[in-house]
Order: sequence, then structure tokens, then C-alpha cells
Amino acid sequence: MTSATTTTGTRAVKGSVGSAHTRVEGRDKVTGAARYAGEIPFAELAHGWLALSTVARGRIRSVDTAPVLAMPGVLAVLHHENAPRVDTDYVGLLGTPDPTAAVFQHDRVPHMGWPVALVVAETSEQAREAAEALVVHYEQEPHDVAFSADRPDAYPLDNFGPAVTQKGDLETGLAASAVVVDAEYTTPEEHHNPMEPHAATALWDGGRLEVVDSNQGTFWVASEIANMFSLDPASVRVRSEHVGGGFGSKGLRAHQVAAVMAATVLQRPVRVVMTRRQMFSLTGYRSPTTQRVRLGADADGRLRALDHSSLSLTSTVHEFIEACAAPARVMYDADAHHTANRLVRLDVPTPTFMRAPGEAPGSFALESALDELAEKCGIDPIELRVRNEPERGPVSGLPFSSRNLLACFREGARRFGWADRDPRPGLRRDGRWLLGTGTAAASFGSAAMPSTAAVTAEADGTFTVRVNAADIGTGARTALTLVAADALETAPDQVRVHIGDSDLGPAVLAGGSMGTRSWSWAVMIAAGELRERLALNTGIPPEGITVRSDTTAAIGALSRKERHSFGAQFAEVAVDPATGEVRVRRMLGIFAAGRIVNPLTARSQLVGGMTWGISMALHEEAVRDRATGGHYGADLAGYHVASHADVPHIEADWVDDVDPDDPVGIKGIGEVGIVGAAAAVANAVWHATGVRHRNLPIRPDRVL
Ligand code: MOS
Repeated sequence: MTSATTTTGTRAVKGSVGSAHTRVEGRDKVTGAARYAGEIPFAELAHGWLALSTVARGRIRSVDTAPVLAMPGVLAVLHHENAPRVDTDYVGLLGTPDPTAAVFQHDRVPHMGWPVALVVAETSEQAREAAEALVVHYEQEPHDVAFSADRPDAYPLDNFGPAVTQKGDLETGLAASAVVVDAEYTTPEEHHNPMEPHAATALWDGGRLEVVDSNQGTFWVASEIANMFSLDPASVRVRSEHVGGGFGSKGLRAHQVAAVMAATVLQRPVRVVMTRRQMFSLTGYRSPTTQRVRLGADADGRLRALDHSSLSLTSTVHEFIEACAAPARVMYDADAHHTANRLVRLDVPTPTFMRAPGEAPGSFALESALDELAEKCGIDPIELRVRNEPERGPVSGLPFSSRNLLACFREGARRFGWADRDPRPGLRRDGRWLLGTGTAAASFGSAAMPSTAAVTAEADGTFTVRVNAADIGTGARTALTLVAADALETAPDQVRVHIGDSDLGPAVLAGGSMGTRSWSWAVMIAAGELRERLALNTGIPPEGITVRSDTTAAIGALSRKERHSFGAQFAEVAVDPATGEVRVRRMLGIFAAGRIVNPLTARSQLVGGMTWGISMALHEEAVRDRATGGHYGADLAGYHVASHADVPHIEADWVDDVDPDDPVGIKGIGEVGIVGAAAAVANAVWHATGVRHRNLPIRPDRVL
């Protein structure tokens, strides 16, 4: 890898985009100079600790505040009878708010771990001790947390696309097929637990509300808080400079709202930090899914019929659907094509966006089914995908902006050594280990959303970029530095980028794999205009020259196309038939994911996604106890994730793929890395053992 950090002053330099660059804030992070939300000091800071319900359904009869208020350092106990009222009847940037964040508004308890009180004290230890001593009396009601494929109360929900798509006659197509796969797949409840737990400090300062937070978009969170507390948006400032992971979990949550309430009541800064255990019920998760895939094909593997139906769950207070059937609308065509996403409401916390929502569990089912079809047809799994590569969007009929999926498979097969593969299962041994290889396809939507940016040419010849991006560990700040440097024809070290502050103006959140693309677009427009102005050579005044941009019009003018990133995943596993242990020996992912801005951090993102895919395939499973309605082991000891010893050699790379309509050529890489990874592992386990695993995770007891 080459470094592009040549220092050439303000001389014209091109080519920062596409060359490896270490994080501009890397030194601050490894030396501890970078402060995270829970460790920024404030004078007169008070600490709030959330108390969560210990029943899964019912009503709060009473909260025994008096004994707790007498405890050392305790300043207040907020609960449904005394907390400030908030508004939840609005449509925010992502739709109607999840009432889970609107804490202490009523006496109903809709799930285990529902916030029932905030204890505020002088120190966090005092707050925690008091919160744990707080006695809340409940009127308990029977709860229902039983998720299963045959729920009679399941219903289709349009969200992120229609609930159901239908083309041709499915049953006729299946009946006319020489080969049929009809299989049910399940994935468990899975949790995103960023290394940095959710934390926020709220304070009123000269009539303005300021919230120092860890989130995926300060403009978004600020607008939610303004809506909820009926405040002028200009009077709310949210900052979030460094974020230790998000993955979809870091939006508006109970901690920010509780902190704002307490800061308002006490008129002093209040910090609320969640424990990891609290995150299991308060910050969203991936719903368990049951999915049925039916594939009908001619003997040569060409699909006649494709059906993908998915069921996921949500809470009783908010609808969120895990749209697992969505990838089938993009990946494969058939004359008879049917997809459906259904939902059931249970007495559980609300799930949310978790890295590659829909695509991650959906691709496990669909790409496993493709592998089963390849086996039944006696066709190589890659050749099967070649024969079913669609010309246009199978459901939309729209052209692809660019696809290059087969280029990923070709390059992946070459580098992985796929050509020598004996397709028969259960034949290869290395001592006691059975060996197998598997592959799967990946896709994730490539979108862009309106954002604003301001670029300033400073009098000293350097540049300042202000764009309200969120760097949740992705390297977005560095990517934007490289994009700006190229657009300004300067070196990256001549550019400073300010992000993570709602006062910087409107910008999309870090989500949907569209952050870097959307923010870069705004930076490109402002920087391009600034260069034109500088070319007039009128000199730079002391305050500099600033150009602002807004991409609303440019993004609105995008033509309708199927826009996605794609990829090919490969895995080699070893299975111990005596213990049931599965070990991934190596993985390779080749992606067609647009122009890669910073290969160093892009590779990290993709390898991170693939690592999570191993975790999803073999380890992750939140187990909900039907009797209590709560989790067993809601922590990182009980919730098993892949650790270093589980993660072997992982390689991620890409083929040339430039988005034709994006000013930089970016498509987005945040999520595609996890898609298909679990299916590649599961398909490799079949190849090793001859046994199909349709239920994740592939635990040792399931292998035996
Ligand atoms: Mo991502 S699941 O869009 O934060």
C-alpha cells in the first residue's frame, strides 16, 4: 500500500482519493486526546442512572421515591408522575419516533427493560446505587414473547419498499420446474453493541440546549429533540465528535431524552450513560427471523420461480420491520417472482436498523437456498449465479447503475482457488477436521441523501471544510479530507474537516451506507465553486472565502435506477465431527462497491463486516426467556461474539466499479461486507459435512 501524504504546501496535488491514508484523528484516538461523550468534563455535572422495568408487561402502580431521595448525593428521581411531558406526535427525519425514547410519559410497561425512572445524583456511583435500590411496584399482566413462523397475528407491512411484490404465477412456475428447493431458515435475535456505550450530557447554556452525545447524526438527533421538547430547532445544539461504533443503534434513545429532562428540572448539566446490559433493551437490535425460500428451476439451473417470505417481530409500541425479502428483488429474476415481508407485535423491545438491515439475514436464507439449488442441479454454485444474472431489476425492471457481481465472482474464484473445488460434500479431511468451502453473493443499496457543506479558503493558504458528518469509526472524517483535497487540488494536510456538530447545518446521518457518499457530494460542489472563485485571483481576505453547498437539487435530479453495491463472499471452514466445532480458516470478499476513497479504512470496514458475518454464522444469539420475557446473559459474556481466535485470515478487495452518477464515483461500503458472509460459511459447512444448517448460529450442539 502506498501513502499519499506527500506535503507540497498548497501546490496542486491530485490523487489523494484512492490511496491509503491513516486516520486524521488516529493519533488523538490512540493517545487518549480524543474525548468520547461520557468522558468530557463539565462543571457542576450531575449523573443520571436509568432504572428499568423488571416485568415484561403491565402497569406501574407506584414508585417508592422517598427512601432513595434520602440516599447520599441523590438529587432527584424522575418517573412517569413527575417528568416533563414530551411530544411524540410528529413525523421526524426517519418517520414517527419510537416512543421508547420518550421516557416516563405513562404508567404502561410494554417490555422487560423498559425505562421506568431516572435517579440523578452528584456522582455516577451514588446514582447507580440509588437506582438499583429503587423499588417500583407493578401490576403485572401476562406477556407474549413467543416468536414463531406460524403466528396467526402476523401481518404484512410496507416499509423500506412494499411488503409484497408479485410477478407471474408462483405455483404454476414451481409446478413446471424440474428442480425445486423449498426450505425454511431462521436467524436469532442479534444485538449491535458498539464498544462505546450510549452516553449523553445535556445542559442549558444561555437559553440554548446543548447535548454532548455519541450518535450517528447530530442534525438528526437535534431535530428529534427539538420536536420532542417543542423547542425552536435553532435553540438545540447536539455535538458528537468521536463515536466508538454505532451500527444503527445510535439515534435518538432514552438516555438523551432522560438527560434533557433532568437538566431542565435541575438546571445543571446531567449525564446519562447506559450500561451494556441496558443497551440490550434500549438501543435496538436485529429481530429474529423465520424465512421460507422456494426456488424452482429447469434442469440447467435457470430459475422459473422464486419465492422469499420473511417474518420478523417488533414491539407493541413501534413498528420496525426487518425486510429480509428485499435482496431477492435485486439479485435473481424468474418468470414467477414473489417476495413478502411480514411482522408480528410482541411484548419485546423495539428492534431497529442493525448493519445491513434486511440484507444480512435475508442473504443468509436466499444464498443458502441458491447453494441447495446448485447441489440439486449438479451445477457449480458460481455457474448457477452466472446463469441467473439479471439484465435489469427483476421486480422494478429498471437498469442497474452498475452491477459487476460476476466480475466479483470471477476475481474471487481466481484468488480463492475455486476452480479446483470438488463439489461433493464430506470428502476432505485434515486430521480430525472435515474441510469445506462455500460462496455467496452480497448486495446492499447505494443511496445518497441531501446534505450541506461549507468550504473556506483561509488567508494562510489552507482550507477548512465544515460538513455535519458523523465518523462512527468508519474513517469518514479522513475520507472527506481526501475528497476535499482532490477537489481543492491540494494536499490532505492542507485541509481540516469539522464534523459532528448540529450547528454545522443539515446533513444525512451515518447510515444506510450513504454517509460518506452524501457528505462528499456536498463537499465536491462547495469545493468546486470555491476553486472557480480562487481562480479569479482576487486575494483572500483575513476572514477567508467561504462557499456553501446544498445537494438537495442534485440528488433530486438522479434518474431512477437500481443502485446497489455488490460482492462475492468465499469461506473455507474446518468442522470437528467429534465436538461439533466449526472453525473458519479463511475468508475472501471481493466487492463492486463504487470508487474506494481510502483503501486502508475501506478494507477495515469490509473485513469488519465479514468478521461480523462469521460471528452471525457461528456465535451470535440473544436468548429470550419466555417465562420472564427478558434475556439470558444480556452482556458480552453471555452474548457470544467472534473473538480474535475465531477470526482467521480475512481478505477483502474490490473490482473497478465507479458509480456513473456520483461526483466522486462512490457507492457506499458500510454494510455490504456482512451481507452473504454467514451464507458463505454455512455453505462451506455443508460442503465439509454434507449437512445443511438452516438455523443460525451453527452451534456445536447443532453440528453434532
Ligand atoms: Mo446502519 S444499520 O444504516 O447504521
